[in-house]
Amino acid sequence: MAHDENKAFLRRVPLFSGLTEQQLDALAAGSARRSYPKGRTIVSEGEPSQSMYILLAGRAKVQRSDAEGKEVILAVLGSGEFFGEMSLIDDSPRSASVITLESCEFMAVSKDAFKTMLQQSPEVSMAVMRGLVRRLREADKKIETLALLDVYGRVARVLLDFSEDVGGERVVKNRLPRQEIAKMIGASREMVSRVMKGLELDGYIMPLPEGKLVLREKLSSYIN
Ligand code: CMP
Repeated sequence: MAHDENKAFLRRVPLFSGLTEQQLDALAAGSARRSYPKGRTIVSEGEPSQSMYILLAGRAKVQRSDAEGKEVILAVLGSGEFFGEMSLIDDSPRSASVITLESCEFMAVSKDAFKTMLQQSPEVSMAVMRGLVRRLREADKKIETLALLDVYGRVARVLLDFSEDVGGERVVKNRLPRQEIAKMIGASREMVSRVMKGLELDGYIMPLPEGKLVLREKLSSYIN
């Protein structure tokens, strides 16, 4: 029963869309569904690894911290994205921690099943490479942001990155705490609060109930 359910979930994951029935069977045998509440650490930076994960529902943050506990958020992952593959590919410790931002559902795929799939399916290997390349592009953009933009520009870029088109307007639909923005751009929470207040007073952003934000078109002038 669990096998058939796992297989049905795996079949819907874009990463595995090229697999044959037999390959899906093998993958399902090495996979398990997991649900976790908000705030749970799924993988821990520096630890050895046994599995990679596909996020079926919810959002999770990828974060690193230094010896004093100062944290930087590298990325926020959403439904359909995968993580935990890096340490399986290069047999090194986990490169970062991944922590749920809300209740999440995952498919955990064992190291053996994942490695077998990479060897057997060029489609899966290509899809994993595409995922890694996309991350590298995003990391390049982040380096540019940190090196070239002031704090207003950095906040503007985060808000634009997290926004989506709603009837022709850019809207940040999920609440984005100032502390989380601060950890993404290497600024203090107080500084982010000041910048957000300034952007609001000058009409660059408009807060809505439930933590939503409408971004005015002129906000992009900060990153151009
Ligand atoms: P792994 O090193 O096994 O465990 C931590 C995971 O975080 C890593 O695999 C990647 O899946 C993910 N990760 C690391 N760096 C980034 C990044 N810059 N953007 C998105 N995900 C990342």
